[in-house]
Amino acid sequence: MGSSCPRLAVAVLAVRPLEMISAQDCEIVPPWNGDLGDCPQTLSSGSSCLPSCRTGYELAPEGGVARCRLGQLSLPTCHPSACNVSEAAGRIEHLATLGDCPEVMASGGFCEPECMERYEPSGNLSCHFGNLTDVDCLLVDRCPAGEERLDAEMVETPSGGSCVPCPLGTYKSDEGPGPCQACPTNSYTNATGRTSSQHCSCPAFYYEQRNALDELLFCELCPNHSSVVGSATDGRQDCQCDEGYVEVEEHGVERCRPADPCNVSDLLENLTGPEDYKLKVGSCDTYAETSMLPSGKQCSLLCAAGLGAQLGSDIFRAIDLTIACQDGVLERRPPEGYVWCSEASWEVPPLVFLGLTTMATILGAAALEVRQNHFERQYAKALRGW
Ligand SMILES: *[C@@H]1O[C@H](CO)[C@@H](O)[C@H](O)[C@H]1NC(C)=O
Ligand SMILES: *[C@@H]1O[C@H](CO)[C@@H](O)[C@H](O)[C@H]1NC(C)=O
Ligand SMILES: *[C@@H]1O[C@H](CO)[C@@H](O)[C@H](O)[C@H]1NC(C)=O
Ligand SMILES: *[C@@H]1O[C@H](CO)[C@@H](O)[C@H](O)[C@H]1NC(C)=O
Ligand SMILES: *[C@@H]1O[C@H](CO)[C@@H](O)[C@H](O)[C@H]1NC(C)=O
Ligand SMILES: *[C@@H]1O[C@H](CO)[C@@H](O)[C@H](O)[C@H]1NC(C)=O
Ligand SMILES: *[C@@H]1O[C@H](CO)[C@@H](O)[C@H](O)[C@H]1NC(C)=O
Repeated sequence: MGSSCPRLAVAVLAVRPLEMISAQDCEIVPPWNGDLGDCPQTLSSGSSCLPSCRTGYELAPEGGVARCRLGQLSLPTCHPSACNVSEAAGRIEHLATLGDCPEVMASGGFCEPECMERYEPSGNLSCHFGNLTDVDCLLVDRCPAGEERLDAEMVETPSGGSCVPCPLGTYKSDEGPGPCQACPTNSYTNATGRTSSQHCSCPAFYYEQRNALDELLFCELCPNHSSVVGSATDGRQDCQCDEGYVEVEEHGVERCRPADPCNVSDLLENLTGPEDYKLKVGSCDTYAETSMLPSGKQCSLLCAAGLGAQLGSDIFRAIDLTIACQDGVLERRPPEGYVWCSEASWEVPPLVFLGLTTMATILGAAALEVRQNHFERQYAKALRGW
């Protein structure tokens, strides 16, 4: 046996040169993006072999072999690898169906799988040289504007947490996940399911600031002794001092201080008295004790029955006996000078305005004529009594 081996080897060597020159053998050129694999350089007629492809490529047709027949070589090609979508799909949680995805997708293709209810794919599945992009089914917490998930904890369970209207004092502008937002501090909504902070309102005594979209920015208390007048939509200027208070600015801050009353002590002392020709306190009686007339208030002095007020000797001029106070200043008061009560000015109706009408002139002149003596006596008496 040992001696037969070399002889056989010689016989084989003697045959091979014959094969190499056979015109029916095929010279193999490796496919694009591949190499010879298990193929020899020269494939003899009638045999086949399997070339291989680079990673990311696969033989097409699948499992295709290189075959030589009478000098004619049929060689498979290397195509970019397709992806087995159904295999990958098995690993995706919360996936419902493959959607428009084929079971096997060519490289460069993409498709959108379908997730279970309330889940959405994070993107499209796409195939790149046999690699399939990772896609997850993500929970989408979609409640419409003005609604939020009833129980956010329950959201992971398939049936958990239905959408409910935003509670009072909150709103949600957009469709989507997340809870309703609270209205700005101190503000409220008058109904549930609100969709914008436009619907947030400030309570009484607060003024509000809104932006150009009418969305509420904040509610602030009006300064002490002031409150909102009307519908508070213009911000701070809606705060108006309460009655009896006036606005002052101190160090750039506006506040409301009590308005000053008027001291009418001297006025009452001068004008009023028990004598007929003196004025009576009238409705100013309320304030006579303290002699202080509060700001914003007014009262009237009067003459005793049958007497009229006049200034000095002027019986024609109408005398305003009202006293009105505005923050420490008498806005109205009887004229400066000697105001007293006389029969003459009672009987001659005072001419309220300086524009004398003919009628008034005639009337006045006639009355003056008649009353002249009487008036002089009264005046003299009054001056003596003063
Ligand atoms: C496929 O993905 C793997 C791992 O992500 C990577 O190593 C490989 O290079 C990719 N192949 C191609 C052809 O993109
Ligand atoms: C894709 O993968 C699935 C599961 O692994 C397998 O059953 C199926 O035969 C594969 N399809 C192809 C075309 O390779
Ligand atoms: C998936 O592809 C479709 C079709 O091109 C496209 O309309 C869609 O926006 C893509 N989806 C994602 C999540 O990228
Ligand atoms: C509720 O507030 C809105 C403004 O946000 C207002 O238009 C509506 O009249 C209010 N409704 C009631 C009942 O107060
Ligand atoms: C407003 O009034 C409250 C209570 O009366 C008082 O505590 C507070 O200091 C006042 N604020 C100002 C700015 O005067
Ligand atoms: C008002 O004025 C009188 C006289 O000027 C004065 O005596 C009195 O004290 C004043 N009253 C008050 C409360 O200031
Ligand atoms: C009171 O009368 C005197 C004298 O007639 C006058 O000077 C003074 O201004 C009067 N006072 C008031 C408050 O009217």
